[in-house]
Amino acid sequence: MISEKLKFAVVGCGSIGKRHIAVINAEPEAELIAICDIDEDKCKQLSALYNDIPYYTSIDDLLKRSDIDIVNIATPHGLHAGMSIQAAQSGKHILVEKPMALVADDCEKMISAANDNGVKLFVVKQNRYNTPISLAKKAIDEKKLGKLFMVQCNVMWNRHQEYYNESDWRGRLDLEGGALHTQVSHFIDLLIWYFGDLVEAKTLTDTMNHSIEIEDCGVSALKFKSGVIGSLFWTTCVYNKNYEGSITIIGEKGTIKIGGKYLNKIEFWDVQSYPLPEGIDFEDQPNNYGKYQGTSSNHDKVIHHLVDQFNRKRNGVVEGDEAIKTIKAIDKIYKG
Ligand SMILES: NC(=O)c1ccc[n+]([C@@H]2O[C@H](COP(=O)([O-])OP(=O)(O)OC[C@H]3O[C@@H](n4cnc5c(N)ncnc54)[C@H](O)[C@@H]3O)[C@@H](O)[C@H]2O)c1
Repeated sequence: MISEKLKFAVVGCGSIGKRHIAVINAEPEAELIAICDIDEDKCKQLSALYNDIPYYTSIDDLLKRSDIDIVNIATPHGLHAGMSIQAAQSGKHILVEKPMALVADDCEKMISAANDNGVKLFVVKQNRYNTPISLAKKAIDEKKLGKLFMVQCNVMWNRHQEYYNESDWRGRLDLEGGALHTQVSHFIDLLIWYFGDLVEAKTLTDTMNHSIEIEDCGVSALKFKSGVIGSLFWTTCVYNKNYEGSITIIGEKGTIKIGGKYLNKIEFWDVQSYPLPEGIDFEDQPNNYGKYQGTSSNHDKVIHHLVDQFNRKRNGVVEGDEAIKTIKAIDKIYKG
């Protein structure tokens, strides 16, 4: 039974864990009651910032608490599956960061653990809340673009070698998987949301400019269930700073380019009898990690919708059965 103020605990207090903590703290119907990280210094610093909130250096100890409603998992990719299953088995709902897991088999196990224990398994997909993304989704759902033909998706970003060096998991096959799991999974989720499951991929990848085990450049020709064909171009090798994060959709009755550096702008909108609504005001901001920038910072909207979903019996926050599609697509793209 969920109380009115949902009680959250955050596991993993790194770059994005801090953002989870901040947005939960700012959400009126949520309460942050514990944090957890194996790095005790991080725990201590954050505990001092947030009213001496109790902290744990082991998820096992955290999960012994019976008063937690939702556990947010913001640890390296390779830990998502095990931690989600453990949280489900201790009767807690879960909000796990993207990517849901590294492989689809693990996603299946996470879904089963949630079902078997009567808890919900949510996955962070905050880019769905970007204004340009939802405007395009509405146009597609209302068939304003007519038959959909093609899509071009570009993720042309910069990650310095230092970004990989300063972490013990980034750039590693066993813990990160690949750039598709990290930078590109948001984009793949949106492509599937727009065009249906990925059914075919033909791919080239390479590691051109970093000392890492995973790829830093890739290009893939894609085909979706709806018949849409397209290309995915991704790299973390762009000189100096992020250049573009974009999705261009070509349909029978219109063309839309969502662009900017992180899907934050409408760069082109030409849709028959369906102009871009006038006077809409939006300023989607990126998650800013100091030395590099990620995609949109709409984690506040994810937490708000989650709380709303529990308290008012609504739906809409992405759950495991939907998020697994991205992991299956990633597998297909790497094998293609
Ligand atoms: N939705 C988004 O836009 C977004 C943005 C950034 C990161 N992420 C995801 O969040 C996750 C974390 O990424 P990050 O950039 O914050 O990484 P990070 O390395 O900055 O932080 C990870 C934290 O997890 C902690 N940790 C590691 N093992 C642990 C364990 N066994 N128990 C408890 N804590 C443990 C580390 O000490 C570290 O503080 C990744 O899966 C990443 O893909 C999502």
